[in-house]
Amino acid sequence: MRVAVVGCGYLGAVHAAAMAEFGHDVIGFDVDERKIAALRAGEPPIFEPGLPELLSAGISSGRLNFSSDVADIAGASLSFLTVGTPQLKDGRAADLSYVDAAITALAGQLRPGDVVVGKSTVPIGTAARLAARLDDLAPGAVLAWNPEFLREGWAVQDSLAPNRLVFGLPPAADRAHLAEAALREVFARPLANDTPLIVTDYATAELVKVSANAFLATKISFINAMAEIAEVTGADVTQLADAIGYDDRIGRRYLGAGVGFGGGCLPKDIRAFRARAEELGRGESVAFLAQVDAINLRRRKRLVAHVIDLLDGTPHGKVVAVLGLAFKPQSDDVRDSPALDIAVRLHGLGAVVRATDPKAIENSRALHPQLDYRESFEDAVTGADALVLVTEWDEYRYLDPDAVGELVAGRNVADGRNSYDPARWRAAGWRYRGLGRP
Ligand code: UDX
Repeated sequence: MRVAVVGCGYLGAVHAAAMAEFGHDVIGFDVDERKIAALRAGEPPIFEPGLPELLSAGISSGRLNFSSDVADIAGASLSFLTVGTPQLKDGRAADLSYVDAAITALAGQLRPGDVVVGKSTVPIGTAARLAARLDDLAPGAVLAWNPEFLREGWAVQDSLAPNRLVFGLPPAADRAHLAEAALREVFARPLANDTPLIVTDYATAELVKVSANAFLATKISFINAMAEIAEVTGADVTQLADAIGYDDRIGRRYLGAGVGFGGGCLPKDIRAFRARAEELGRGESVAFLAQVDAINLRRRKRLVAHVIDLLDGTPHGKVVAVLGLAFKPQSDDVRDSPALDIAVRLHGLGAVVRATDPKAIENSRALHPQLDYRESFEDAVTGADALVLVTEWDEYRYLDPDAVGELVAGRNVADGRNSYDPARWRAAGWRYRGLGRP
């Protein structure tokens, strides 16, 4: 199929390369000319394992092209919409201006019978509104909604072998038929591999995405709430998570207690969900998400309090090595990153923060130039009065407490991801603080 991908950010760049891998003839479009020039040269806009290889394979096959000229989309029978829907600067709701602009740009290139497939995470009701706009701007073009569930760090794998596909189809039977046929063709490869498929309406498809993210965020905040209770009772939240996680109705995944969730999806999606539910008159149904958000943000303060405590109440002038800046390992994304937030808070308290990360320094510096960034781990920790683990990259998880102890000025460690064995660190003479562990 000739396929267009409109918006070449985190989602679009990976999706375009995956579609070329499926054998389609792909044109990736973005208004950002620098991004397009880089992609043409095979350089991803983000750090994502496996993406450089996938891009190169697509480009050298001749099936993967990029352009900042919307006219180059012409002739694509199916166009994916993969632009961002960030949180509004002055509110909790999603900013849909990129989605609206993309539809306007795309409409001029569409022919009757062409299919537009929305993948961006949008408030429920957006697909119906966009379908009506398309009726005006490009009569005969058909809209479908196909939410994306990829995880950063696993984006290539999640795109090539999704764990499920959801097709949200228009209400009119003839249009639904056309859209479903196009979607079955474009996803022929994963469907042949028995990927579960849910064929549904627009509203369900939109709700699937936001409710999946709301559930994941709730699961993380649930265990972090238990960590708060553990802290006042002497219980150990990591053992608790193991014990309840053996119940396969609960499951151990997403029960990692620590500084909580960040990134470009979970935080803004739960806020936008609340905002949309309130507009729909059902704010009370998801009012608990305010608690989910609040618990999550509290954990950052708790870790900072541990660091202050380890520094005997006076962080001012003390050297603190912050290990990790990305919102999670295997990513250079610092959007709503707990790690970067904690580094900035410690800096605000007068600590001499030396922040390090294998991939996310450049993105962090663009947002917070005031921090002292160190490329090398040794450089960051040498002479430090305390270590703070906030992003559990392997290079920080598997530290030898004896060896690191030789480098630091003070053996104090705050473990924001409960990644270390407290007994081992204490045996090496460290004062250890985790979140929700004695
Ligand atoms: C998430 C969803 O997983 C994905 O399906 C959706 O498409 C986009 O949002 P992502 O943002 O890439 O993906 O990150 P994810 O791996 O889900 O982690 C989110 C955050 O939760 C990270 O900050 C991570 O550190 C944190 N987390 C995760 C925990 O604090 N504890 C856990 O047990 C798991």
